[in-house]
Amino acid sequence: MRKLALTLLIVLFLVLTAAFYPRKVDKPMVAGSGDMAVYIQAKYAAPEYHSPLEWWQTHHMDMINRGDLLREDCLYCHQPEESCNNCHNYVGANPIEDTRVGVSGNTRP
Ligand code: HEC
Ligand code: HEC
Repeated sequence: MRKLALTLLIVLFLVLTAAFYPRKVDKPMVAGSGDMAVYIQAKYAAPEYHSPLEWWQTHHMDMINRGDLLREDCLYCHQPEESCNNCHNYVGANPIEDTRVGVSGNTRP
């Protein structure tokens, strides 16, 4: 009887492990598909400081925090909702807001 209970317990443990085992999730990706796709407007070419892109993906904040470039400069080419915040939401970074004056929908000074 004890042996049966123990066996059942082990089976239950294995089933739960399989059920909750971490799975691979979608990552934000340029030209990807689905919710995690990062859309970049194609009418502009990528500036030189984006190269190599793998470096830029993890270092753009350094350039902005250092003050070499303004956040507003990025929005000349990038739509915040489509090409900043989908990734920022994923990594838990602060959302980017378009606060430029005179751009459609912005009433804030
Ligand atoms: C002249 C237009 C232009 C400007 C200005 C610009 N970008 Fe980009 N950016 C692009 C293009 C085009 C791509 C796509 C590059 C590619 O796919 O090879 C891109 C890609 C990126 C990516 C990579 C996205 C990904 O998921 O791999 C990040 C991050 C990014 N830009 C951030 C910024 C930031 C931050 C600024 C401001 C400092 C900025 N960009 C300014 C055009 C621009
Ligand atoms: C491919 C993913 C990705 C994309 C796309 C992306 N970022 Fe980021 N961003 C990050 C990561 C990762 C961090 C670092 C978060 C941290 O260190 O906590 C970050 C941090 C930042 C920071 C400093 C963090 C803060 O809030 O203090 C700024 C500013 C920034 N990003 C601007 C932009 C802008 C502007 C765009 C769109 C043009 C953009 N990012 C697009 C991944 C991305």
